[in-house]
This record gives sequence, C-alpha cells and structure tokens, in this order.
Amino acid sequence: MTTPTIELKPSAHPLSDAEREAIMANPGFGRHFTDHMVTIKWTEGRGWHDAELVPYAPLSLDPANMTLHYAQTIFEGLKAYRRADGTIATFRPEANAERFNASARRMAMPELPPELFLAACDTLVTQEQAWVPGAGGEETLYLRPFMFATEVGLGVRPSNEYLFIVIASPSAPFFAGGVKPVTVWLSEEYVRAVKGGTGAAKTGGNYAASLAAAAEAKSHGCDQVVWLDAFEHRWIEEMGGMNLYFVYGNKIVTPELTGSLLPGITRDSLLTIARDLGYEAVEGRISTEDWKRGNEDGTLTEVFACGTAAVITPVGAVKSARADWTQADGQPGEVTMKLRKALLDLQSGASADTHGWMHQIV
Ligand SMILES: Cc1ncc(COP(=O)(O)O)c(C=O)c1O
Repeated sequence: MTTPTIELKPSAHPLSDAEREAIMANPGFGRHFTDHMVTIKWTEGRGWHDAELVPYAPLSLDPANMTLHYAQTIFEGLKAYRRADGTIATFRPEANAERFNASARRMAMPELPPELFLAACDTLVTQEQAWVPGAGGEETLYLRPFMFATEVGLGVRPSNEYLFIVIASPSAPFFAGGVKPVTVWLSEEYVRAVKGGTGAAKTGGNYAASLAAAAEAKSHGCDQVVWLDAFEHRWIEEMGGMNLYFVYGNKIVTPELTGSLLPGITRDSLLTIARDLGYEAVEGRISTEDWKRGNEDGTLTEVFACGTAAVITPVGAVKSARADWTQADGQPGEVTMKLRKALLDLQSGASADTHGWMHQIV
C-alpha cells in the first residue's frame, strides 16, 4: 500500500486577522481551534487514503459508531514553537509518531506510517503559521493528533475503518498564573492502570477512568492525583497526565517504565538534559514511604512533574488518607527550575539543539 500525499483544500472563510488576534490575546488551553484540520481515512484492505487538509468543522457520527461504545480511540499531544529566529519547529515529533503506533498496537488499531504522522502535523502547522504565538513566551500552538474507529455497528471487535485527524489549538501555559507548586493527592483507592492493561497507551479510557480520582483529589483540596501501582498501592507511578521526578541533591530519579505508566517524551528528554547539566539521572522505584522519609530527613530535596502540556511543574505538598506533608519548603526548587529553563530554552531556540531534537517546519 502506498502512503498518500495530503491534498490541500483550505477554507474560503478563515477567521479574519482581527478575530484570530483577539483569540490569541487570551487563548487559555485547549479552548480555541485553528481554521483547518488534516484528516486521513483507513479502510481494511485499502489502508490509508484520502489525506486532506480541510476547514476545521464538526463531524457527523452515526449513533452506532463503534468508538462511542467500545472506545477504540488514541491520541497524542505535541507543540509547535515559534523561535527567536522566526522559524517554527516541533520537539521530537518522531517520538510522538512512535508512541502513537505503540498505542495503536495496544488498542488493535492500524499503525500510521511515521512519515505520514509527521507530514500531517507539518502540513497543518505550515497552513496555520499565523496561529503560532510569538517567540519568547511560553505560548505555543498545541497539536492534537488522534485516531478513532468509524465503523458503524455493535459487537466487540476491531473496527474495519478509522479516521485520523490532527487539530491545533493556540495555547497559553497549561497552569495559568505561572510556575506554582501543586498539591497532590496520593490515590490509594483508585488506580489508573495495571501491568498488562492500557496504562502505557494514550487512549481515551485511561483519562475517563482518572476523573473520579481527580474529583476525590479536589475534594481534599489537592490540584492533582498521584497514581500508585495497582498491586501494592505503594509504588509511585505518575501524576495526572504528567510523569514525576524526585531530586536527591545531585541525583534525579524518575519511576521506571513498568508498563502501567505512560512513557513521556518530556520524561525521556529530561534524563538526557539532566545528564548534560551534570546531574546523575536514573530510572528507579520510589515508594510513598521513601517519599515521606526522604522529605523528613532532607535527602529528597525536590519533586516535580513533567509533560508536554505543562512542561515542568513543582510539587509543593502531598496529602493522602493517612498523612500530609509539605515537600521541602513548598517552593519551586533550584534543580526543578534549572531543568525547566534548559528545556524551554532548547524548545524556543535560545540554546543549541545538540541532540537534533527540534524538527523545523517553517
Ligand atoms: C498519563 C500521562 N503521563 C505522562 C504524560 C507526559 O508525556 P509527554 O511528556 O510525552 O507529554 C502524558 C501526556 O502526554 C500523559 O497523558
């Protein structure tokens, strides 16, 4: 089967410059979408076909659309950055393409050739250049590639057709109000994922299953949930939609990939960035007792979460059904802020791209 080329069918009525600028003055996160989207269809026996850039528009779905019943749906999230030299680039999009296909395999969906994933993102960003916020701030154009089953019918089995779409949303920093440490809830009642389950896939059901725990966290005055392993309810996995790092002076540790947490691209990048900055960066196992004890004896100096949407966010306090504590002095730590700056500088073009991670589009 051949890889289709993306046909350009741009909108005859995009928003005016003034309308777009009004949105971009206060974009929020994930609230506004650009004028276009890229869509690509997959049909059994035919493969990927009808790749198009078309006006952003609602979809019409049959009530018996299989996604609505059996949730065969996966997604990705990455950002397009406008850099100081005027170019626009994404960060490690090949890693998103690879993770998308890992999610597809787990959910019994067809894989998308990585070059088509990249072409879809690049085509949309090229079309929507005016929607990429200016350089210098933390505003970006957030890209959301996703795929879902489109066969109509009931009965649990893989769909025989799918739709892949990329949409784009101009975005302010994920957490409004700057770098503010979050208070986390150690979720001992709910679990997010279990080995052999779908935790390592970016599939909608994982996020639906997180909502009751998020509500529980909120009812205890917490901003985010920290997920523990499903067997012992003891080993730290991740935080909401972000991975976690534990800073022990010059050594930083992130929970190892056990199959039940999402292999974050930010997490992976920070292992390298931290080593570049002279830290020892490792993957390991950290229990809730390790966390509490390390904080009490002062060996655990900082904790932070990381992910594409919110970059790096310090953890300032921890609560659970049995214990509450402030993480160190509750303020953003020095290592946290140094890694945050290093990552943002790389993405904005303020520092050299020594690992070839930036993918220039325009
Ligand atoms: C559950 C979960 N963990 C971690 C992450 C962080 O991954 P990344 O750094 O690739 O954005 C995400 C976001 O994609 C996520 O949804």
